[in-house]
Amino acid sequence: MKILFKNIKGLLQTIGKEISYLKGLEMKNLSQINNAYLIINDDSIIDFGEMHSCPKPHVDKIIDANGKYILPAWCDSHTHLVYSGSRENEYVDRINGLSYEEISKNGGGILNSAKELKNTSNKQLYDQSAKRLEEVISLGTGAVEIKSGYGLCLSEEIKMLEVINKLNENYDISIQSTFLAAHAVPEKFKNNKKKYINQIVKEWIPFVAKKKLAKYIDVFCEKGYFSLSETKQILEAGVKNGFIPKVHVNQFNSIGGVELCREYNALTIDHLEVLTKDDLNILKNSSIMPVGLPNCSFFLNIPYTPGRKIIDNNIPFTLASDFNPGSSPSGNMNLVISLACSKMGLSPEEAINATTINGAYAMGLSKELGSITIGKKANLILTKSISSYSMIPYAFGSNLIEDVYINGKSINNL
Ligand code: NIG
Ligand code: FE
Repeated sequence: MKILFKNIKGLLQTIGKEISYLKGLEMKNLSQINNAYLIINDDSIIDFGEMHSCPKPHVDKIIDANGKYILPAWCDSHTHLVYSGSRENEYVDRINGLSYEEISKNGGGILNSAKELKNTSNKQLYDQSAKRLEEVISLGTGAVEIKSGYGLCLSEEIKMLEVINKLNENYDISIQSTFLAAHAVPEKFKNNKKKYINQIVKEWIPFVAKKKLAKYIDVFCEKGYFSLSETKQILEAGVKNGFIPKVHVNQFNSIGGVELCREYNALTIDHLEVLTKDDLNILKNSSIMPVGLPNCSFFLNIPYTPGRKIIDNNIPFTLASDFNPGSSPSGNMNLVISLACSKMGLSPEEAINATTINGAYAMGLSKELGSITIGKKANLILTKSISSYSMIPYAFGSNLIEDVYINGKSINNL
């Protein structure tokens, strides 16, 4: 089906196909065409330009986007949206004074979600997760990375990864799967962590690689979770088995994970709520994409990743939702953008660059997604009628999205 969008108030992120991500100063500029047209054919973008040069092709549908913006759908490169149940009790415990770390030390947190997962069938897990996926699509997400990590044993990890892959088969949205091999240490290995790591390295990683259940490998590199040397062992095995690292680093403490990510050529380094001078210098001299997760900072009441400082040091930057039951029970990328602007000091242009082309890069998808470029997939957001695109971060909490197109198909069938 061929669709012509005409009279678009602003067509955003119209960069060339040679650009795979933007960094530092480049992020200040959001390329755009005012009063534009856009033509998509089936799942692809085939033409766009200024309205006065709009051709008169034979199309199946014409949509008048007068007063509205069209931009690439959000690319959310860090989520844990396949999980079972919810943890609002812990949220209330935190309101009453316990910290995230204290809750986890008392057997809550990730261990709690792992317990819940065990009591959930594959079908139930799929259904719960599909609902979350549909919700984020309706909020404008057009590509998403999903991690395992609540299994804490091989069979449960496989259950999660199979659900992630099934979602990818059944939905048009592009889903990238990450094996979060080391997320927490289960109770029965508390006194024998070595054995647990050994199992991950010797059995789990080779198995998941052989079955091709994930492309990326992740570790929660943090005090009280996995130390630097444990993370190293896992990344080493991961890379040997063909995985690309995308790693949870510096959420609460800087313990050397940034240097390790450089050593193992991580695609992304995620969290960085704590960022030392040395860490920043390493990032400056590497090609890793840092990922800020402002929903998590908001929800846990912890510092925000210093996105402003990262960009000012000419480093690329992306933003993701971290959708998960403990630290960010929201996959709303519009809120991510608002928080990035209000709390990290990004401009709307920087935040939109971060969540489109840079988000696509952070999932290895920038050849096909993340910008309005001929040949790329027609994964689009059509906004409601708005005065400017700065309304997106400004009107936080409001839904300014009229429709979302995934592979050229409207989710509302408008
Ligand atoms: O990215 N930090 C580690 N993992 C998740 C939280 C997991 C959970 O609490 O369930 C995060 O914040
Ligand atoms: Fe996370």
